[in-house]
Amino acid sequence: MARAQSRYVCQSCGEAFLRWEGQCRNCGGWNSLVETLVREPARSAKATARASVRASAGHAGDQPEALARVADLDLPRLSVGLPELDRVLGGGLVPGSVVLVGGEPGIGKSTLLLQAAAGVAELGTVLYASGEESAAQVRLRATRLGLTDGLAGHAVRVVAESSIDRIVELALAERPSLLIVDSIQTATVDDLDGAAGSVGQVRESALRLMELAKGSKDVSMDVSRDAGRGHGAPGGGPGPIGALAVVIVGHVTKDGSLAGPKTLEHLVDAVIGLEGERYASLRLLRSTKNRFGSTEEVGVLEMGERGLSALSDPARAFLAEHDGPAPGSVVAPTLEGSRPLMVEVQALTASTAYGTPRRTASGLDQNRLALLVAVLGRRAGVALGSHDVYANLAGGLVLDEPALDLPLAIALASSFRDRPVQPGTVAIGEVGLLGELRSVSGLERRLREAARLGFTRAIVPRAGRGGPAPVVDGLEVVAVGTLREALERALT
Ligand code: TYD
Ligand code: MG
Repeated sequence: MARAQSRYVCQSCGEAFLRWEGQCRNCGGWNSLVETLVREPARSAKATARASVRASAGHAGDQPEALARVADLDLPRLSVGLPELDRVLGGGLVPGSVVLVGGEPGIGKSTLLLQAAAGVAELGTVLYASGEESAAQVRLRATRLGLTDGLAGHAVRVVAESSIDRIVELALAERPSLLIVDSIQTATVDDLDGAAGSVGQVRESALRLMELAKGSKDVSMDVSRDAGRGHGAPGGGPGPIGALAVVIVGHVTKDGSLAGPKTLEHLVDAVIGLEGERYASLRLLRSTKNRFGSTEEVGVLEMGERGLSALSDPARAFLAEHDGPAPGSVVAPTLEGSRPLMVEVQALTASTAYGTPRRTASGLDQNRLALLVAVLGRRAGVALGSHDVYANLAGGLVLDEPALDLPLAIALASSFRDRPVQPGTVAIGEVGLLGELRSVSGLERRLREAARLGFTRAIVPRAGRGGPAPVVDGLEVVAVGTLREALERALT
């Protein structure tokens, strides 16, 4: 039987029970319940976060106010010195907020955050708590990144620590502007017996870091180091330290979910993913949640000998490098947030040796691929029924834009017929079950960028009620109504 203040929480679905049971009654998982401390519902992190948003908007009461009179969220931002990360954060870290940075092991999270720490060092001190590496290992990386000598050498303080109680203590004593906890999977609180990385530990650790950040917040939104310190009860109301931003590092598991089943993502203010292929150099930063900014922005970085750096022309970063058009390759002008990216869609078809044909997609939606194979067969005379089909985005990119349908379909047909796409061509559009093409958002913007990068021809859906296709200097815009028509115009 659980103690009065603890519950048994399912490791896979997050459901809580009073007693331990071998099987979770919610999701059916076996041996998945773990003892967890109970928090008072009234002091839930969400309520705290909402309260602090209200407070920062200069309106602490609960009285309704006319929409036009509500003060703007004018949040001070702590720049991390990396424009691409600042962009995805919505202009920098918000003091008093908690950001979760997720990504696969080895993708570059620690590198990114050490660089961010150095950037913040221009404005304040940083406490970097690593449960994964020794202080010497962190220093080794910092040296490699050339960060030990400058301001960062003094303003970034490193501790090899995984106890959250101790990290909170240190933060209260050192009063940094930024606390980095690397990683949440190594963090533990003393009150729980569970192993590091268990849902109970992960969630409780995150909750305490939230309390630390939120508690620090109401004192002052000023990011300058010496302004507005107050002394109040820890955890609620005015906190004992100046506004502190907390960044939590979380490893992503194979299936793409952050460990601590979803519970973390709901708690924190922002979730930022670092994506890419471990053995390729390009990295994409993407926010999937942001209470203080847009979730649409992406950042493009390159991992080099001295850490992560911005590219001079991110729009062309994901174009594969090869000479001339090859069968099975189509360039798509995608739009991630407000950032156009030219992406190469690659497809390969091969006769199935025996058994069921394979449909394998990487970076693209598997179901979409299966659907396009069916539509190509029924509506465009490209019979892939006895062919294995592989599809891929160059550069390790992962996108789920429906507008990738058309370039993918053309790439499949191009590989199947062994005919390359006309040189200088891009294609974009959603494909319907009848083989009809549907328009995409921001078409003009995408096409302008394609023209800027030297493309001369674009296959796009014929505009419906939206009026004529956009006219773009230097670009022949080929507007088509069906997939069949698109294939005729695209392939040589
Ligand atoms: P790391 O930041 O340790 O990844 P994570 O914290 O997400 O597990 O990054 C590790 C990889 O990055 C490692 O394979 C080495 C590589 N790397 C570089 O290529 N250049 C660099 O300057 C640094 C510091 C790391
Ligand atoms: Mg790491």
